[in-house]
Amino acid sequence: MMEKPAASEVPITSLLARRWSPRSVDRREVEPGKLRVLLEAARWAPSCFNDQPWHYLIFDHRDTAAREAARSCLVGGNAWALQAPVLLLSVARESFAHDGKPNRHGQHDVGLASENLVLQATDLGLVAHQMAGFDAAKARSLFQIPEGFTPMAMIVLGYPGRLEDLPPALQEREKAPRVRRPLEDWAFAGKWGNPFHP
Ligand SMILES: Cc1cc2nc3c(=O)[nH]c(=O)nc-3n(C[C@H](O)[C@H](O)[C@H](O)COP(=O)(O)O)c2cc1C
Repeated sequence: MMEKPAASEVPITSLLARRWSPRSVDRREVEPGKLRVLLEAARWAPSCFNDQPWHYLIFDHRDTAAREAARSCLVGGNAWALQAPVLLLSVARESFAHDGKPNRHGQHDVGLASENLVLQATDLGLVAHQMAGFDAAKARSLFQIPEGFTPMAMIVLGYPGRLEDLPPALQEREKAPRVRRPLEDWAFAGKWGNPFHP
């Protein structure tokens, strides 16, 4: 896998530094046993009230019609993802299971589960790339996602591909440095807007 470790200003755990969002994905199928590990990692995410408001729809070689349907939901800008062997769709349940009240943190917790999954994928040497660029209404209809559940992100999964197989513009993006906003833009001390100086 092409490595693009975070140029962190202070050292962070290597798995976090190594995770990134590649677009170059091989066509080789991912073993179901590995998908099982990824879902287990998601399963152990923390959540408000331990409500576990996440669902994942899995699209792989075992149902190519469903996988084609999932691919058909991607926006044009994500055409690079069409050859990926696996797509996952994360879905948030919007109300608590125990009392049916709205769960303001449901989508937050799905994000936590997905980050677990993506980090586990990194550890297994797999590419994992989350995408907002898909037609959520179409996915709801095609995959019969009920009301009260919100499609959140498509996640590309696969083995690392070759940089040379991407179109030139995407090769450039693939090689571009990973960047982040500086701490003072978003970490505040005591009150909003007051930069935190560690
Ligand atoms: C919720 C979410 C939606 C995203 N949507 C897309 C997308 O539609 N297409 C894409 O190529 N990347 C998408 N990304 C990847 C981001 O662009 C990427 O995470 C960001 O640029 C930081 O780069 P890194 O993940 O390599 O650190 C998405 C990431 C997240 C978490």
